Amino acid sequence: MESFMYEILPFILGLLCALLGYLYYLHAFQNRPREDDKVAENADAEVKKPLEQPAPKSSKPKKIPMVKKKEVKDTYTHPWLLTNLKGHSGEILDLDFSSNGKQLASCGTDRAVMLWSVKTFVDKNNRSVRANIEFDHATQIKWSPDSKAFIVSIETANTLQVYKVGKKSDGSLGNFEMILNFPSAHKADIINIGIACNGHFIMSCSSDTSLIIWDLKGQVLSTIDTLHINNYYACVSPCGRFVASSGFTPDVRVWEVCFSKTGDFKEVKRAFELKGHSSGIHHFSFSNDSSRMLTTSKDGTWKLWDTNIEYTKGQEPYLLKTCSHGINSKCVCALSPDGRTIAIASLSAADVFFYSAVTGELQAELKEIHPEPVRCLQFSPDGQYLVVAVGRHIRVFHNLPGFQNIILGLEEAKKNATNASMRDRLQTQIEEAKTVLNSFGKS
Ligand SMILES: *[C@@H]1O[C@H](CO)[C@@H](O)[C@H](O)[C@H]1NC(C)=O
Ligand SMILES: *[C@@H]1O[C@H](CO)[C@@H](O)[C@H](O)[C@H]1NC(C)=O
Ligand SMILES: *[C@@H]1O[C@H](CO)[C@@H](O)[C@H](O)[C@H]1NC(C)=O
Ligand SMILES: *[C@@H]1O[C@H](CO)[C@@H](O)[C@H](O)[C@H]1NC(C)=O
Repeated sequence: MESFMYEILPFILGLLCALLGYLYYLHAFQNRPREDDKVAENADAEVKKPLEQPAPKSSKPKKIPMVKKKEVKDTYTHPWLLTNLKGHSGEILDLDFSSNGKQLASCGTDRAVMLWSVKTFVDKNNRSVRANIEFDHATQIKWSPDSKAFIVSIETANTLQVYKVGKKSDGSLGNFEMILNFPSAHKADIINIGIACNGHFIMSCSSDTSLIIWDLKGQVLSTIDTLHINNYYACVSPCGRFVASSGFTPDVRVWEVCFSKTGDFKEVKRAFELKGHSSGIHHFSFSNDSSRMLTTSKDGTWKLWDTNIEYTKGQEPYLLKTCSHGINSKCVCALSPDGRTIAIASLSAADVFFYSAVTGELQAELKEIHPEPVRCLQFSPDGQYLVVAVGRHIRVFHNLPGFQNIILGLEEAKKNATNASMRDRLQTQIEEAKTVLNSFGKS
């Protein structure tokens, strides 16, 4: 009996091994589709990568980089496109026109700050000055009111710096140097900064609920709790009197920053609120005299407000219009300086929508202006251009809808005119504007 067991045992063990092997094979087979998915995912990632950055050097050096270069090549064209400002080697994070309209500043993850001369937007040779932020990069940039300096917020140190812009002997923009480094005061990331046009104060706002008012030397004058749960945006009004903030809560809060006649800081006091959206407000924008405000909300609408009010006498902002923008992700907006034209873009797409602020109609769409999404957009102070930062590029568009809206306004004024000389004058202006309009896309 025992000898029989010794004889059969190896056979049983062999059978067991075969069974285990078979089970293992089944198991591996079942898992295989998942492995395949992973491979497919990696393949996708490899296809997308070339858009982000040049491929690292590999063992097949010659052919692959050439193919990738072709994919990166920027082929976008549009009749309204005046120019593409190229020079950043990393994603652009912010843009700002100087108040005199002569310069545009940009900053990006490549540590660079670039200053572009608006006059030379179409001059290929010498249109920008570039310098790097040491050991860090600027996330936001704003010109000083006299256009001779700019302020930035910097990523790692999470504070503000002031730079002075030099001039070359021929009057063009020169190099710039840091003249002031603010103490750090924000616990969360700074999301926007601003400087009042009267030079009275600087504002910074972070993604928690704090908003700080500074003097120009970097001393904190006041810290405000916005009570938005999270801040999404804040800015200084173009008139230099107010700061406004929005966030998770469905309102924009506006404060007046008060100074005495001799220019000493007095207080920050609640002025008014924009109430009416049913969800958080991603972004907002003022017209150049602060008499109109545009808000874009997660509730899928934009609203236009008349803020030309005397809040100290109890007047409230007046809601002029509510229209659907149909964007269900974070978006940015810009109200043209004259308050007649609206531009809105989603931060996860590369389309720009133009609306008339007068009628609320969708006037035009610029579709897929870049493979990467829009980061920010701004009208030039004269209302002629809309600049859009997408990836490493700044697209400069003629504000064609803005011109159409100016003509509509002149035509309406002509209808209202009470005498012939007034009508003639307006007719001349209409014809001039139409000539400019017709010249677009023909240069
Ligand atoms: C561009 O360069 C030319 C010559 O190099 C110079 O004369 C001109 O003033 C420059 N323009 C600007 C706006 O810098
Ligand atoms: C606002 O913009 C309009 C149109 O560009 C311009 O005529 C007006 O002077 C500007 N006003 C201010 C206060 O900047
Ligand atoms: C023209 O008159 C109408 C009503 O009479 C008024 O609503 C409109 O604001 C006026 N337009 C201009 C440009 O004065
Ligand atoms: C024509 O009407 C405008 C207002 O519409 C007025 O300002 C202007 O003085 C008038 N001119 C004449 C010649 O009556």
